[in-house]
Amino acid sequence: MRTCTVDEGRRGFLKKSSAIAALYLTPSILVKAMSIDKVVPVTVAKEKLSLTINGKAYNLQVDIRSSLLDLLREEIGLTGTKKGCDMGQCGACIVHVDGKRLNSCLSLAVDNQDAKVTTIEGLATEKQLHPMQEAFIKHDSMQCGYCTSGQIMSAITCIRGGHANSRQEIKDYMEGNICRCGAYQNIVDAIIDVKQSGKTV
Ligand code: FES
Ligand code: FES
Repeated sequence: MRTCTVDEGRRGFLKKSSAIAALYLTPSILVKAMSIDKVVPVTVAKEKLSLTINGKAYNLQVDIRSSLLDLLREEIGLTGTKKGCDMGQCGACIVHVDGKRLNSCLSLAVDNQDAKVTTIEGLATEKQLHPMQEAFIKHDSMQCGYCTSGQIMSAITCIRGGHANSRQEIKDYMEGNICRCGAYQNIVDAIIDVKQSGKTV
């Protein structure tokens, strides 16, 4: 009796699965081929959205599928807020909404009706950086800089919310902000510096 080899087994499996796939796929391919000249353009549903970004009022028509992050970057042109994972795991997209930090990749833009949004571009005045921006420079708290805007936005709410009483407390609060360059110690140094300075953040 002839036994089949691993390769023959694989070939058999592939043949069978191709045949099954063909059975299932053919009708939809045909349907597509037959109806190709009847394709109806997809209409994108939009909703009105009024909100304030960095002190400026916006009245927009927004794609209901758009995240707040994409609205900020693609529609408003505020590209200081970064897209890292786009799934709530890296913190690169953190902004302030009504004074609280938020992963903007996880928030539908249309859910921010009447919100007050602050991004990294809204922290400094024309003449003066925000104290946390100054501290990040002073303590060399960035390398490639990709995570930095999210880190700074979190660092500010860390102090505002009373979570900067020790290095460990700061690390716990900042754990949602990933830095692949590993600038963590310098980021904590910057936060401690601002906290000890007593400056308003
Ligand atoms: S891009 Fe939003 S958490 Fe990573
Ligand atoms: S400075 Fe490069 S990812 Fe944080």
